[in-house]
Amino acid sequence: MVQATVGVTGLAVMGRNLARNFARHGHPVAVHNRTAGRTRALVDEFGDEGTFLPAETPEAFVASLERPRKIIVMVKAGAPTDAVIEEFAPLLDPGDILVDGGNAFFLDTRRREAALRQREVRFVGTGVSGGEEGALNGPSIMPGGPREAYAELGPLLESVAASVDGTPCCTHVGEEGAGHFVKMVHNGIEYADMQLIAESYDLLRHAAGLEPPEIAEVFRTWNDGRLESYLIEITAQILDHVDPATGQPFVDVVLDRAEQKGTGRWTVQNALDLGVPVPGIAEAVFARSVSGHTGLRAAAAGLPGPDPDAAPVLDLVGAVERALYASKIVAYAQGFHQIEAGAAEYGWDVDAGALATIWRGGCIIRARFLDRIRAAYEADPHLPTLLTDTGFADALGGAQDDWRRVVAAAARAGVPAPGFAGALAYYDALRAARLPAALTQAQRDYFGAHTYRRTDRGGVFHTRWAQDGAEEETG
Ligand code: 6PG
Repeated sequence: MVQATVGVTGLAVMGRNLARNFARHGHPVAVHNRTAGRTRALVDEFGDEGTFLPAETPEAFVASLERPRKIIVMVKAGAPTDAVIEEFAPLLDPGDILVDGGNAFFLDTRRREAALRQREVRFVGTGVSGGEEGALNGPSIMPGGPREAYAELGPLLESVAASVDGTPCCTHVGEEGAGHFVKMVHNGIEYADMQLIAESYDLLRHAAGLEPPEIAEVFRTWNDGRLESYLIEITAQILDHVDPATGQPFVDVVLDRAEQKGTGRWTVQNALDLGVPVPGIAEAVFARSVSGHTGLRAAAAGLPGPDPDAAPVLDLVGAVERALYASKIVAYAQGFHQIEAGAAEYGWDVDAGALATIWRGGCIIRARFLDRIRAAYEADPHLPTLLTDTGFADALGGAQDDWRRVVAAAARAGVPAPGFAGALAYYDALRAARLPAALTQAQRDYFGAHTYRRTDRGGVFHTRWAQDGAEEETG
């Protein structure tokens, strides 16, 4: 009897497509779903794509797998994941590998891995990016969990991952929760990237006065250059799309409220805990939040803005391209900073260059740009920030005049551009010789005796502001 080399439980669109991907690559795949109808539908519709071993019960599913078993759980993150683990764990043997391919919160993954370790089941929290199309044709896969589990699981996952220049977009990114952590930050970067693209569109439309098909053409041109990426490519297609029902540009008939399932918010919450500045990601999360506050927006809609008949800003296209590229460097620099800080905090060994390598294909943020990041970390694995890589520093230097012009043009035209403005502020803050944090610290000392350090000598000081104004050394 044929035994399955891998099993997939949870056959909604992501699980179903991943199972088909395994089957198409010649792996006999066991398939199971809580409601058996989905399992039958998968085999009826796609059974000729490879060897599927459908199972109606968890027991039959587990029995159809070769050992050590490799089971991929593709259910909605949260309580459903715990329910599946509870159902399957008693059926597994020591050494079996349980993979969670959902968008789980990484602290849940740590907890689950620790619990399953008691049963000697190896739990591998894995980021999977690329949406339903990626799951079918090659996603970017970010497994965490025990390194020795990857030795057995890796070849299987690598065989179905996307591949760029012959390198699979899958690697062991780090121990235990590291896989879901980096997927979380990937999504945070995805939010920032999308926000910057949205601001570029808004500027070209409302400051430069271009129409959606013209902007689509601009994006298509950009996609032939250093900004080449999946997100730029789909943006051009969306802007070209005409709504069949109304004949209007499609972008004009979509309600301007961006939703979120929450991974971007988690990224920012975690960055706050780690003390890592990720304003690019935070601005993107908040921009979605602002868009959803329709009551607030309606109340403020009458507030004065700049002259609506002001002449369009000329020659903005090239400047926006440079501002977008520079802001994108900043957003990725912030994301990689968070990954580095997370790895240090949670004790994982994460290789930033390897991560950039597996994000080059399959995932939502796939881009030519990732190859530049890979090269930057190859040149210096201990790069303090992507901004100081020679190539990126040159690009930032070359962009900065236009970047400032774009932020100014946005302010003048009343186009909200928090991503561009925030990225520029981050750049200026990092390169500043002196920050006004000196004044902030002095204020803290004034009202709360929180002390300060001096530029000219060591020690900790307090000035007796309310008494004699004299300085005392406190430590
Ligand atoms: C991916 C995507 C995927 C999903 C996001 C959308 O990498 O394939 O990130 O995980 O599209 O969860 O997130 P929001 O609903 O929060 O925008």
